[in-house]
Parts: sequence; C-alpha cells; structure tokens
Amino acid sequence: MTRTVYLNGDWLLETEAKVSIFDRGFLFADAIYEVTAVIGGRLIDYPGHGARLRRSLDELAIPCPLSEEALLAAHREIVRRNGLDEGLIYLQISRGTADRDFAYPKEAEPTLVMFTQAKPVLDNPRTATGITVATLPDWRWERRDIKTVQLLYPSMAKMEAMQRGADDAWLVEDGYVTEGSAASAHIVTHEGVLVTRPLSHAILHGITRANILDLARADAIAVDERPFTVEEAKGAAEAFITSATNFAMPVVSIDGTPIGTGRPGPIAARLRTLYIEDRLATAL
Ligand code: PDD
Repeated sequence: MTRTVYLNGDWLLETEAKVSIFDRGFLFADAIYEVTAVIGGRLIDYPGHGARLRRSLDELAIPCPLSEEALLAAHREIVRRNGLDEGLIYLQISRGTADRDFAYPKEAEPTLVMFTQAKPVLDNPRTATGITVATLPDWRWERRDIKTVQLLYPSMAKMEAMQRGADDAWLVEDGYVTEGSAASAHIVTHEGVLVTRPLSHAILHGITRANILDLARADAIAVDERPFTVEEAKGAAEAFITSATNFAMPVVSIDGTPIGTGRPGPIAARLRTLYIEDRLATAL
C-alpha cells in the first residue's frame, strides 16, 4: 500500500514527498524525532511524546513549526488517512534547509515529516520467548537525553549484537548498563526490586519507562533508580526493555548467560499487562 505522509503542511503520497539535499537533518543529523505507538487507531502515551518532542527541540533551539493542538491533529489525521489500526507514527523535525555551515542558519524553516508503519504491537510473538542481548560499549555522544536522529552508532551496535547471535545490544559505559540500542534497560533483583538507571544526560528519558515505573510503584513493586553493572544484570532474576513499540519486553539472556530461569519472568509480564491496560484506557 502506498502511504500518505505529511511534509511541511502537505499530505502527499510517500512516492511524492521530497526533502532537499541541503536539509540539515541529512547533512548534520540536525533533527529530532519521536515514535508513538498506535493501537486500535488510537495514540498511545501521546502527551508524553509531545512533551519530550518539545524538550528535544528546546535543547537544540529548533522552533516547533506547529502548535500543540496542530501536532496532535496531524497525528490523528495521519492515522485516519492511512487507515492505521496498529503500528506506529514516526515524526521528525529538522532545523531545515540552508547552505552547509556548522553554525545554525539564522533563517531556516524547520522540516516536519511524519509517516506511519503498520505492525502488530499488541500480539508481538517475541513477548512469549523474550529477546537476547549482547553488551557493547556505549560510544554515543553525551547528550543521549535529546532524541536526535544521530542513530548510526545504535545501528552499528545492533548489527554487531546480531553478528554475535543476539537480537539486540545493551550499551555499557564505565561498567554500567546505560540502555538498549533503542529501548530503556531494566532488571529485577531476586528480592523483586525493579532496578533501573536514573535519568541523566546518559540516557533517553523513556516515556514508556516513566509509565512502567509509576505502574510498578502503584502495584507495590519496589523501584530502585540506580545504575547497575553487566555482572549484576547477568545474575538478576529478570531483565527487560521498555519502548514505545515494545511496551515491556523480557530479556532472557545477556552475552549468552541465561537470566533467571532463562524464560520470560513474571514481573516483566505483569508490567506489560498493566501498561497495556492503563495506556489503552488513556489512548487519544
Ligand atoms: N526508541 N532509549 C533509546 C536510545 C531509544 O531510542 C528509545 C526509543 C527508548 C525508549 O523510549 P520510549 O519509551 O519513549 O519509546 C530508550 C524508539 C522507539 C525508536 O528509536 O524507534
């Protein structure tokens, strides 16, 4: 199916939407993005993604080309135009088009692109098996809290992890896990405590992470926001990742070491169920 995409105020067929070779997103990765899950044609966790989008733009002094209401309306409209039932909306805003210069151009108009991807997110077969990860050094820049399109290293890390026979990478800095290639990383101790790295510039402030932590606390699951090492993760009762399209996804082995029983654990499964219930109730 040829999708209808959004480009700077226009609804176009995906084959017709074109961005300049001088766009700073293309030349400098001078752009930020968001991924919002869609279930039953409704937006999951939209307010969180909208707020983080604004924060990323503010950190880079990129003006937002649309008002809050217009952005939400565009999200709803792209779902409608594509008849999207389940999948995701990708949104990217670059600083815009200007002759190549390291200094930010004074008069660039931001480029706003949105497209949809249909895929099953509720009935993801990997939930039953869990995923495996390999650890790799975190060689990304030091402002990972800004959701930029500089995704080459996460992509390299994922490829290297796959070459090692794993599904994905967990990134490690100074012996401590930062996050996954495109997801927040968590473990559960044998005492049933959910351990996750605290927010800082070292990790993306995951929207799913924030909701999962709230739901865990409300469900009397203790949460300890502190860094954890690879060794601690390998000896944990459970491990899992969270992201907009994975919700909570069990990690069953790290560098070939089985985690807990080597099967998806009960706390990750419980949090996934709670998350889906809660987010469907508040979907827009
Ligand atoms: N990735 N950490 C990183 C590095 C990420 O790229 C992501 C999301 C997350 C989880 O954030 P959230 O829960 O807000 O989706 C953590 C998206 C889904 C992607 O790049 O496709």
